[in-house]
Amino acid sequence: FIKETGNMAAQYLDWITASDLKNTADLPAGEGGIISIGLRKAAVYRDYDNTLKAFSAVCPHLGCIVNWNADEKSFDCPCHGSRFANDGTVINGPAQSDLAKIQVK
Ligand code: FES
Repeated sequence: FIKETGNMAAQYLDWITASDLKNTADLPAGEGGIISIGLRKAAVYRDYDNTLKAFSAVCPHLGCIVNWNADEKSFDCPCHGSRFANDGTVINGPAQSDLAKIQVK
């Protein structure tokens, strides 16, 4: 039950279900990571109030997959250095927009 949006440049997931996130059950508060949902990648972060946040892991600059940076608690793009806060907001370019939010249903 994954609804996909057909933007060829940066394909992303609009929403995912809790069962898509079963492999995040062990993710401690304050930690994040990249998970696969089908062929897509999602960037996930568990907040200190235990809320799981999910974003497209596709960098909005040119489409590389971001990595979780455990030291800085950020999502960092390996291609050209864009960085995103754990709430998905861009903190360093060249990306000019935030990671696309994914709603958890
Ligand atoms: Fe991520 Fe360029 S693709 S910084």
